[in-house]
Amino acid sequence: MNPSPSQRSGRILLAVSGGIAAYKVPELVRQLTKAGHEVRCALTPAACEFVSPMVLQTLSGAPARSELFDPGEEGEISHIELADWPDLVVVAPATAHVLARMTAGLADDLVTTLLLATRAPVLVAPAMNVNMWDHPATRENVGRLRERGVLLEGPVAGELACGWEGEGRMAEPEAIAARVGLLLSGDAWKGIRVLVSAGGTREPIDAVRSITNRSSGKMGFAVAAEAARRGAEVVLVAGPTALSTPPGVRRIDVETALDMEAAVNAEFPACQVAVMSAAVADFRPAHREAKKIKKEDLGPDQGLRLDLVPNPDILAGISRERGDRIVIGFAAESHDVVEAARRKIARKGCDLIVANDISRADAGFDTDTNAVFLISPGGEAEELPLLSKAEVAERLLDRVEKLRGVAR
Ligand code: C5P
Repeated sequence: MNPSPSQRSGRILLAVSGGIAAYKVPELVRQLTKAGHEVRCALTPAACEFVSPMVLQTLSGAPARSELFDPGEEGEISHIELADWPDLVVVAPATAHVLARMTAGLADDLVTTLLLATRAPVLVAPAMNVNMWDHPATRENVGRLRERGVLLEGPVAGELACGWEGEGRMAEPEAIAARVGLLLSGDAWKGIRVLVSAGGTREPIDAVRSITNRSSGKMGFAVAAEAARRGAEVVLVAGPTALSTPPGVRRIDVETALDMEAAVNAEFPACQVAVMSAAVADFRPAHREAKKIKKEDLGPDQGLRLDLVPNPDILAGISRERGDRIVIGFAAESHDVVEAARRKIARKGCDLIVANDISRADAGFDTDTNAVFLISPGGEAEELPLLSKAEVAERLLDRVEKLRGVAR
């Protein structure tokens, strides 16, 4: 892989921990050096059981270290100098144990000491058994590392060395090397404006009452946060919610579907990507009473009849006008999720639908996790496992990068 003109080569400290996926590390070193990067390797003692430091040393052209207090190794370059040296640290494979040690801030060998001492950005490529990846301890550790700005590549689903199937395979060396190039170029999202809609809308009946839905806005806020983290300029059009605005995001608060439509239509022309995750009310009361409707005025035992009129479909509207912009919609379905979403993408005319099954307790409205399918215009469905909304946002933006033609 030759670096593209926008990519620059850099200094990569490759930290290797002890998992079977370490057998792919020589290929990763080869890919990184071929792309013009300078690579130095550090191994945990367990990693040396899976891959030979001599192989990494030969391929990288620099000493591969594993000892923290080896006088010879320290004489060459001290571990603090080594921690200061890179533009980017890549941990591949990152075992559950090394992720846990990173989370706790332990420094009990060379690799974890370097990880604690470095000020460079850190990209981890986890690799482990699916049950270890799914374990609440690992979930919590990954969540905390991500909050600290640690970046993840993978793991991917597939056949695992332990014989299990599932998520836990280390991302392929090509994918890790491509991500490194992207991170060092730092401009995949530079100058890209992303419009996100989030939350439910509130349709007033009178001065105090309204029709709304259970959307929390968490999914859209996670997308806005992740896009801003990647360097995009983000505009978030939000229905009523108590969530705080993610750093670096410009927020426009709206109440009704008509307000949301006006804000989205005003911002859309200047955007390159739109992610419409709001739960827009399909109907609104035909008339809004300026005052509070009083029971007494309706007569004894009288019900209240509401006339509802349809709201405009904001997503379908911007999809028609999208030109070469990328437009993503969401679909909350309670049954036949994939089939319903396939019909929806055809009807709305967008580039991708993120479909979730709202009948699950752990997905959809007002949860912190989501289980979604990514549905393409041709009907292809990619099922993602149960993930935090932050992780769904990452996967979604990875897909947007692919749709925009950024190699991953
Ligand atoms: O038609 P349905 O509400 O299931 O479609 C959901 C998708 O369409 C979401 O992306 C939502 O933001 C968008 N939508 C919209 N305007 C509407 C209804 C839904 O933009 N009136």
